[in-house]
Amino acid sequence: MEALRIYTEKPYCLQGEVTISGAKNAVLPAIAACLLTEDRVELTNVPLVKDVQTMLTLVGELGASYSLDENQKTLSLEVKRIKSTQAPYKLVRAMRASILVLGPLLARSGQATVALPGGCAIGTRPVDLHISGLQKLGANLKIEHGYIIAEAKRLKGTEIEFEKKTVTGTENLVMAACLAKGETILKNCALEPEVVNLCELLVRMGAKIDGIGEETLRITGTRELSGAEHRIIPDRIEAGTFLVASALTRGDLILKEVEPKQVEAVIDKLVMAGSQVELPGRNIVRIKGGEDLKPLDITTAPYPGFPTDMQAQFMVLMTQANGRSIITETIFDRRFAHANELLRLGAWIEIEGDKAIIRGKTPLSGAEVMATDLRASACLVLAGLIATGQTTINEIEHLDRGYEKIEEKLRHLGVRIERFTNNNNNNNKKAEVKS
Ligand code: EPZ
Repeated sequence: MEALRIYTEKPYCLQGEVTISGAKNAVLPAIAACLLTEDRVELTNVPLVKDVQTMLTLVGELGASYSLDENQKTLSLEVKRIKSTQAPYKLVRAMRASILVLGPLLARSGQATVALPGGCAIGTRPVDLHISGLQKLGANLKIEHGYIIAEAKRLKGTEIEFEKKTVTGTENLVMAACLAKGETILKNCALEPEVVNLCELLVRMGAKIDGIGEETLRITGTRELSGAEHRIIPDRIEAGTFLVASALTRGDLILKEVEPKQVEAVIDKLVMAGSQVELPGRNIVRIKGGEDLKPLDITTAPYPGFPTDMQAQFMVLMTQANGRSIITETIFDRRFAHANELLRLGAWIEIEGDKAIIRGKTPLSGAEVMATDLRASACLVLAGLIATGQTTINEIEHLDRGYEKIEEKLRHLGVRIERFTNNNNNNNKKAEVKS
């Protein structure tokens, strides 16, 4: 298994510049949207992360031809014909966002067989809102042998109100409605910037969508969509992760390619904890970590509230705050796995239902830990920056799903970090540190 090892003689103080990559959670629906047209779609600012490869493998099996230019970070996709309407379990299991092909496949070809994603490390994660929404659009869906089997001659516009905010549920229904007959009104839509970015792409493809960025979307279906060029927005969660890295290490970081508005809730909390934040230029954020960190009470919420994807990163930050912090996780029912790993590094954390109580300030010392999901891995990398000694993070394939070249970015900021294969029986093997 691949691992990362961070050497920390004394806690780092990160200084310098880092450029944020394109958003994983924006490029995945954008790739799925390409199924809606037979024309070529060009995406730019594409993040080079594992989930993009997984999504490309999936759409490739469905009939997409594509080329990814890793130097230019551009992706050109074309789905002239749908070759298959099956999203197999092995791919859906690897990445839950595969569910995003359900709506487009149904809209384009009238049928789709998509494996149920099942639960994951952060929660049960049902897709009932996706299914019920598509049924309201006139699709027949049944669940058999772990697959959603859907068919629809032509989807028919209607009014749908989401019982709760769902990011990919909103994205699936918007994409399906673009080719439905007549008007679809979607209420209680998710407001995440990634949903807005998808709607902007769809409009460039010829879709008629009103209310973009609001809770009610009106989509007037068309017979077909055409190709487009589209830029993926910066990854606000990667940006938030580096903002926390600066606050955690009393650093002074300049982040480029950040939309400050999209990280407002995170910046507000970091300022409350004692960081200084400036906006020196367009899409640039500068953050200086304060000498002392103040404890915080944080409750995760749908956008524009505090993002659940930043919860783990703030948990490690709060281990260094002077006092008691409480983090309440309202989105997912099991998103505290990283707490156990932080305990191994010396943190003081108690979990009570949907709350994590963190007492600081606790010095952390390096140890071998296990990544359990994408954002938990990021939390452990952050912890490694301040845990004296060596911190080895195992199973970092979780990290690679959503962070582009994170060790290169950290090395550029002066961190001694290296990637190696940890086959467990030689834990003390000195991994050569790449210069
Ligand atoms: C998206 O997941 C993101 N993934 C997640 O990011 C993010 O944590 C999440 O939104 C919340 O912001 C992508 O965009 C690919 P939801 P999604 O549907 O769409 C419940 C990361 O680290 N729900 O908004 O799957 C659900 O259980 C990942 O990048 C239903 O009950 O999340 C949860 O409690 C992790 N029924 C809440 O809604 C449904 O049909 C929000 O989930 C759908 C969701």
